Amino acid sequence: MTSSDGPAPAPDAPGERAPVPAGAPPGIANPLRQLTLAELRRRTSEKWRAHPPDVLPLFVAEMDVPLPDAVARAVTEALALGDTGYTRGSAYAEAYAAFARRRWGWDGVAAERTTVVPDVMTGVLTVLAAISAPRDTVVVNSPVYTPFHDYVRHTGRTVVEAPLGEDHRLDLDVLADCYRRVATRGGTTVHLLCNPHNPTGTVHTAAELSAVAELAARWGVRVVVDEIHAPVVDPGTVFTPYLSLPGAETGWAVLSASKAWNLAGLRAGLAVAGPGAAAELPRIPEWIAAATSHIGVIAHRAAFTAGEPWLDALLAGLAENRRLLAALLAEHLPEVRYRPAPGTYLAWLDCRAAGLGDDPAAAFLERGRVALNSGPAFGTGGAGHVRLNLATSPEVLTEAVRRMVRARP
Ligand SMILES: Cc1ncc(COP(=O)(O)O)c(C=O)c1O
Repeated sequence: MTSSDGPAPAPDAPGERAPVPAGAPPGIANPLRQLTLAELRRRTSEKWRAHPPDVLPLFVAEMDVPLPDAVARAVTEALALGDTGYTRGSAYAEAYAAFARRRWGWDGVAAERTTVVPDVMTGVLTVLAAISAPRDTVVVNSPVYTPFHDYVRHTGRTVVEAPLGEDHRLDLDVLADCYRRVATRGGTTVHLLCNPHNPTGTVHTAAELSAVAELAARWGVRVVVDEIHAPVVDPGTVFTPYLSLPGAETGWAVLSASKAWNLAGLRAGLAVAGPGAAAELPRIPEWIAAATSHIGVIAHRAAFTAGEPWLDALLAGLAENRRLLAALLAEHLPEVRYRPAPGTYLAWLDCRAAGLGDDPAAAFLERGRVALNSGPAFGTGGAGHVRLNLATSPEVLTEAVRRMVRARP
């Protein structure tokens, strides 16, 4: 471990090629240790182009991993064949249905209750448009993924917060009270749920989700769940797909392979209607499926079909990184509170005791030259916090903490 005042690792030093982490499937090396910073800096995506090159980026949810072989093979074959036309068929849905069966023992994804969508947020907004009107209300559990606030507000809907508890879990009393209050507004209320939860990494339990379904039924609230992070759950924790629960039949889920296999640039998502919402599928306009990239569908299908060994190696690497981050912070920045959580590759850091004000990300960027996400943008509960993306190599993670130390007042 590097001490805060010890020799600084050169920011662009090649990352060590490292052994397979404990718990990883045999034969697949930790995907988080495959690329050097010099290689990563040649990338042209948001993570690598939003800031000048002296900034170490650990903000947007892109991972520092190579393209999984299964995806690379499928996309390369499609390109060689010139299979670059319009997308058609239910291959994506069937691949996801089989993944859900193997991974979570859930046999409930029927291809005829799904539609491909260009990406998850477009899918979420499309479902919102299908089941509610612009002046309606959307409940979110702050602090939450910033587009749940911004994009939804942009549609004309009112965002109402039912904040998570101090323990980063759904607060069912707060939620019940929120549902009760918004019921008086009239119109449709949609609860846009995030499972696992970005930014805290909380994985909602079956009991919590059942309670949400029950409350939603009582107050006439529609539930739309974003399960984009569903595959990114530590093997010690059970992930429950919302639509697998009795009482959740009128819900909708939107998901993709984009977070777990780093495919944001190969856009394609899937919207799944619960059995009680299937009649709403025809309200999704034809151009939504038509706007979905066929190469994206091929990539996401390959990930769900043949990407599990790679995913398991990733999860083992993420578990290692969570432990490393906790140890680094405890040693070098004990005033920053981190509660490792089993979902996502995001770490939600409470910096309120660090004397860096409401938006510590600004100080970390300015003085430490490390880019993290700004907490206040996640809504209530975000002040004094930052979100750190730990899907990187242990060396980069270590350097990031070293830079955060430099930003101390
Ligand atoms: C919860 C959540 N939903 C949606 C997205 C974005 O997905 P897409 O790029 O498919 O719209 C992200 C990206 O990080 C996310 O964390």
